[in-house]
Amino acid sequence: MRKRSPCIAIEARSAEDARRLLLEEGLLDKSLKIDRDVGRGLVYLPVVCTELAVRLVKEKLGVDASICSREFSKRMVWTRELLVKGALEEGGLPRHSYLLVGDIVVFNAKNAEEVERLRQTARVLSQAFPHFKAFYAKLLTEGEERVAKLVHLHGEYKTRTLVKEYGVGLWVDIARAYYNPRLAEEHYKISTLVSNGERVLDMFTGVGGFCLQILARKKAIVYCNDINREAIRLLHESLAYNFNRLKGRVVVLNCDAKLLPEVLSKSSFDRIIMNHPTKWLEFIGVAKELVKCGGTIHLYALLEKREASKSEISKLMGEGFEVKRVEEVLEYSPKRSVFRADLLYCKDGQER
Ligand SMILES: C[S@@+](CC[C@H](N)C(=O)[O-])C[C@H]1O[C@@H](n2cnc3c(N)ncnc32)[C@H](O)[C@@H]1O
Repeated sequence: MRKRSPCIAIEARSAEDARRLLLEEGLLDKSLKIDRDVGRGLVYLPVVCTELAVRLVKEKLGVDASICSREFSKRMVWTRELLVKGALEEGGLPRHSYLLVGDIVVFNAKNAEEVERLRQTARVLSQAFPHFKAFYAKLLTEGEERVAKLVHLHGEYKTRTLVKEYGVGLWVDIARAYYNPRLAEEHYKISTLVSNGERVLDMFTGVGGFCLQILARKKAIVYCNDINREAIRLLHESLAYNFNRLKGRVVVLNCDAKLLPEVLSKSSFDRIIMNHPTKWLEFIGVAKELVKCGGTIHLYALLEKREASKSEISKLMGEGFEVKRVEEVLEYSPKRSVFRADLLYCKDGQER
């Protein structure tokens, strides 16, 4: 089985160092076999983000690499996901959902009986794969700050860890601030839409997934806000951790998003990210005050799947917005999902 993938081409003598570096940074696509062209003395490394990979090998190894795209053979790998799925199946919980947050495993649990069955699965997993250091069951995500209510199952009592998203390090603490590794692709995707020079506001940044991806890739000015003080403390740590690779400028705010129009210039943002899917309707007025005419709002909303169409979202938004695109981001239940709607505000200079 073969698959086309973005890659970097590098001279054979630097390839092993580059492979190790990219693996460590989470940029190497481990599901594909590395390829080489002996005649040309080149090695092709399949990567998840070519631009970052080229920059990283230049900065850390002083070696030039070029961007490529080619067919690679697939490799059968025992990923962490396969291990967890296997253990859940053996424990009689085959379709059970879970999250891998760095070296921490978080299982979703409905009740006390499930918690006990998951404790057994956690013990089995920790023996088979010592890389997992701590196991928790998540009962629900609660409160304004959307923090998970956790029960410790097995292993260390740690809740804080470093995760990598497309080569960018994020400090997270699953007991103190919202974090969902399933948003990693979304963070990356939005960063690719931003242009250099844009003013971007992330109204509900959490530990800063969107902010850090944008800052790592674009010379933009990014305002990152969250009401949760712990989330902002973690964001500061991640900014320091990634300091040398950030291209953009950052302004960090720790306030209720409703107050943002009092501290930020009105109609001044090219792009606003509103990732508070359960409460978005309360904040749309704030975004409207702060976005420029012709600017974009990425609105994340928890909706019934049957309501998630351009026309239904247009009705909810009211005057002044054009819904450009609607995409499903996270499935919540068989009937409901979090959707992203990309909204263009006051297209042809219409009155606000
Ligand atoms: C779904 S989480 C955001 C996740 C984050 N954007 C990410 O990608 O990881 C929603 C966030 O909104 C924050 N929040 C809730 N109410 C708020 C408010 N009134 N003002 C600012 N932030 C708020 C919570 O603390 C939480 O971090």
